[in-house]
This record gives sequence, structure tokens and C-alpha cells, in this order.
Amino acid sequence: MEGTVSCNTIQWFPGHMTKAMRMMEDNIALVDAVIEIVDARIPKSSSNPELKKLANGKPMIALLNKSDLADPDATAKWLSYYKDNGISAVAVDAKTGKGTESIVPLVKQILADKIAAYEAKGQAGRPIRLMIVGIPNVGKSSLINRLAKRKAAQTGDKPGVTKGKQWIKLQTNFELLDTPGVLWPKIENQFSAELLAVTNAIKAEILDIEAVAADFIGVLANRRPDMLLERFKVQAEDDISSFDLLEKAAVKRGFILRGGVADTERMAHTLLNEYQAGKLGRITLEYPDD
Ligand code: G4P
Repeated sequence: MEGTVSCNTIQWFPGHMTKAMRMMEDNIALVDAVIEIVDARIPKSSSNPELKKLANGKPMIALLNKSDLADPDATAKWLSYYKDNGISAVAVDAKTGKGTESIVPLVKQILADKIAAYEAKGQAGRPIRLMIVGIPNVGKSSLINRLAKRKAAQTGDKPGVTKGKQWIKLQTNFELLDTPGVLWPKIENQFSAELLAVTNAIKAEILDIEAVAADFIGVLANRRPDMLLERFKVQAEDDISSFDLLEKAAVKRGFILRGGVADTERMAHTLLNEYQAGKLGRITLEYPDD
């Protein structure tokens, strides 16, 4: 996906998305419900609000994936937020499969009327079809592979859905389209863009990586000062700027350039890599009441 994000104005040019959207619309017409995967660490910023239009009235389910990397209390808050807003949601971990067993029961629940109508018409065996959609890197292929119990990914991050449809049997009468719909991240503000970069949904290099890392360390100073102190040996203090924190962390790690200058760029990469790998612990970056 190509795009540019500048400091004050955010512009995202998903050039190929018009075609991809048309393909997704065609595929959505074939399914009974749409499953949107979001990142449990940033459920709002990783969701595409245009999907509702695209789903065209089809019931939708939100899957909070990568819940193994998110703070469990925050995930519980998100699940009750979705529930309060009438949205069916479940937390999953596509890497281990945790939570994925709840998907079909949830679909059965939201499609109860349709399933009952099929039964009343003597069409009890009629398949219920589902499609997975989500922004790049959110875990679509991992989830499909897990549900299909296979190792190799069918497709990479190709936008839209490929032709030659195949259906994966989930349970009797439940089928999943084996290629996901790829949505583009809807970047609504600079902070959302940074959260997407921190979680690796967009390349941090599109933004200023040191600025992203500095803002991220600022968030950590608020939410997890204990972890910052323990892992990076920096004390979050009121009068210290986020960039100074990044600089101090670089020095403590021994990332120092010739002339004694802190290598904040290297520290920025290290910080983001460690967060993305879950080495900083389970940290959610966006809360429903933010
Ligand atoms: P996509 O199809 O939506 O683009 O995403 P994909 O499944 O390719 O997953 C993107 C990355 O996220 C992969 O890591 C994948 O392993 C990881 N991932 C997916 N779901 C989860 C989850 O629930 N928890 C965690 N911790 N990670 C998850 P990668 O580094 O690109 O590849 P690899 O580590 O699998 O080799």
C-alpha cells in the first residue's frame, strides 16, 4: 500500500483500493456475515469505518486479534464497550487459536433468525457463509490458516479478494471464504497514524520514526512508568520531554554515535521492534474512553 503522511496533514492514497473495494463488494454479496479483524491494542485506529457501508447491512462481528499482546483489562473494557454499542465482539489470538472457538457460536447467535427461517423452509443444511476483512498485518491470513488448520498462507497482502473462490468448512453448515478482504487503514489524525506505525500496520518510515518513537515512549511514561524504568532504565518525570526520554533510553542502551551523540534513530527502531515482538509486555495503546 502506498501512502504519504506528513506532519500536519495526513494524506493516504490507497490508489488500488477502488478496484479492491468493488471486488470486496462482490464477495460481500456472497456471505451472510462479515468478520472484521482489528488489533486488540488499537481497536479504533485499526478499524475502517467505511466497512459498514461496504457490508451493506450484512451483520458484522469484530474480532480483537493479537489479544495476547494487549492488556487483558483493557480488552475486557473494549468488549463491554462493543457490547454496550450493540456490536458482537470477541477477543482472539490467531497465533495460538485462543478464543477462535467462540466465532461460530457468536455467528449462530447473530444469525439466529436467518438460521431459523432456513429450518422453517426445510433448508436446514444451507451453508452460512462468512468473510474475513481487515487492514494489512492485522492477522487475517493467520486466522484463516488456523481455522483451515493449514500452515501456508493462501495469499499475501493483495488488496481485495482474489477470484476462484474456495470455502473452508468451519463446522457443519458454516463456511469461510478462504481469501480475506484487505481494507486500508483509515488514518483520521496524526496520533492514529502513529499508533498504526507502532503496531506495524503501516511502515514507521512513512512517518518520522523518531517522532513516532518519542510519542510512543511518552504514552509508555504515562501508562507503564514501571516498565520504562525496569527495561530501559529511564525515569518518567513530569518535566522531561518524550524526546529526552528517548535520548536517555538510547544512552542507557549504549546507542551512542561518534561525538557522544545519542543514537535516537537506532533506539526508535529498537523500541518499536521490542514492542511489536511483545517484549515490553501486554500494552494496549487505545482505550474506549480516550
Ligand atoms: P494479514 O494477513 O492481516 O496481513 O496478517 P498476517 O496473518 O500475515 O499476520 C501479520 C503478523 O502478525 C504475522 O507476524 C503474524 O504471525 C502476526 N500475528 C497474527 N495474529 C497474531 C496474534 O494473535 N498474536 C500475535 N502475537 N501475532 C499475531 P510476522 O512477524 O509477519 O510473521 P511470523 O512471526 O508469523 O513469521
